[in-house]
Amino acid sequence: MRLTVFNGSNRGKASNTAILLEQFLAGFIEQAANEYETLYLIHEKDQTRCVEAFKEAETVLLAFPLYTDCMPGVVKTFIEYLEPLCGRDGNPALGFLVHSGFPESVHSHFVRRYLEKLSRRLGCRCLGTVIKGGSEGIRAQPERMSRKLFRLFFELGRIFGKTGQFDKKIVGQFARPVRFSKLGLLGARLGAKMGDMLYWNRLLKKHGAYDKRFARPYEPDKQ
Ligand SMILES: Cc1cc2nc3c(=O)[nH]c(=O)nc-3n(C[C@H](O)[C@H](O)[C@H](O)COP(=O)(O)O)c2cc1C
Repeated sequence: MRLTVFNGSNRGKASNTAILLEQFLAGFIEQAANEYETLYLIHEKDQTRCVEAFKEAETVLLAFPLYTDCMPGVVKTFIEYLEPLCGRDGNPALGFLVHSGFPESVHSHFVRRYLEKLSRRLGCRCLGTVIKGGSEGIRAQPERMSRKLFRLFFELGRIFGKTGQFDKKIVGQFARPVRFSKLGLLGARLGAKMGDMLYWNRLLKKHGAYDKRFARPYEPDKQ
């Protein structure tokens, strides 16, 4: 199988998307005849190169982080550039990986519906959407904390490389929790107060945005 991968993270090669793809692709090339090419949408100044790669692809994996319950602008721009390919004969089979900061997969359900509709409009066979919540920590935490996750992504890629399908069992595992139980929610809130806030505040400080963390630039009277 020849797989064309589009990494839709604004962080490009330093992204959680790249880390998850690395594991998936290591599994994918377990089949000696398999090959892949990865394009980073954020680094592509010329969208026509991405459109050409899509046009020539046999199978496409579009992977991106959830941004405001949807997708980063670079992904939306890329999708809009695909419009001339709608309904074209020979469009590639199309699969998606969406991962998010929030651990609950429900946040990605609407974008999954959008992606299925997109596949129909393009006339691509849809291979489905892998959803994984709770991805923000991956880049920052020691590798041993992600060992199980990496093993599953490797396995997902290995099975995909063999069958051309996402393994339903692993996809189901990734999708949990869909929503937190009441107890889970309590735990998550506590975790957010203690751990996440420290993490995000550190990032805000690093980028000189800490003092503006409650800013509402789009509020009507501020414009
Ligand atoms: C501008 C922006 C918007 C985001 N919106 C959401 C969101 O709506 N829901 C969510 O669960 N995570 C959201 N996230 C978190 C990212 O999905 C998460 O941090 C992800 O791991 C980033 O992956 P990357 O390193 O591949 O870019 C957002 C992050 C950014 C920077």
